[in-house]
Amino acid sequence: MLIVENIEVWYGKVKALWDVSLEVREGEIVGLIGPNGAGKTTTLNTIMGITKPRSGRITLNGERIDDKETHEIIKKGLFIVPEGRQLFPFLTVEENLLLGTIHGESWRRRHEALDFVYTLFPRLKERRKQLAGTLSGGEQQMLTIARGLMSRPRLMLIDEPSLGLAPRIVVDLYKVIRALRDEHKITILIADQNAHRVFDICDRAYVIENGRIVMEGTPEKLKSDKRIKEVYLGL
Ligand SMILES: Nc1ncnc2c1ncn2[C@@H]1O[C@H](COP(=O)(O)OP(=O)(O)O)[C@@H](O)[C@H]1O
Ligand SMILES: [Mg+2]
Repeated sequence: MLIVENIEVWYGKVKALWDVSLEVREGEIVGLIGPNGAGKTTTLNTIMGITKPRSGRITLNGERIDDKETHEIIKKGLFIVPEGRQLFPFLTVEENLLLGTIHGESWRRRHEALDFVYTLFPRLKERRKQLAGTLSGGEQQMLTIARGLMSRPRLMLIDEPSLGLAPRIVVDLYKVIRALRDEHKITILIADQNAHRVFDICDRAYVIENGRIVMEGTPEKLKSDKRIKEVYLGL
């Protein structure tokens, strides 16, 4: 579905990604794990067209997207749930959700989309008139995901959803993410520093360090690696 081949990304004179390649097949949950500053956000933003690669290519269902603008990429069925939530705190839950439909066709189907996300997240429905800034951290992360779902993406990129959340909330959140794939057929590429959580739900994962993919495989394979055990699983 998504193929990233040998991308290199620079921020001015600083190189952030070296020869990054990865693949996400339809129906998979793929993890991207790595420490802070490894290049996870840069990778996801480059796929979304927010950051432009200097070389390499990205194809979605066989069509090149690395030369496309973000709004065009969204129309093709991709969406990013950004790091750090990025909600509008002084807008209500429902207003934040509607902002997820301003791209392309989805505004027309916004009522249908609202029904869909309110069924998935009944708590958000209860709080639809509440200002987003007054939600708990876990609810804000759910809202960020719900907003992403408003455009009914086929492939969702989720950036560090567990950041700053209590472990119990993270468990719920990861259940929701798995349900998006299992019950709603949304393919997922998820970046997280927390390898434990990602390994619990993913089919395969890539490990990124210092802007390079250093390992790839099933959770079983990665979990049995001595270095992964030490560095990422604290075993
Ligand atoms: N806008 C930016 N300008 C300059 N350097 C950046 C920018 N964004 C990220 N970087 C650098 O690129 C590297 C990768 O960052 P990032 O993709 O945010 O990593 P991660 O998401 O894995 O924490 C880091 O060294 C970071 O400092
Ligand atoms: Mg990041």
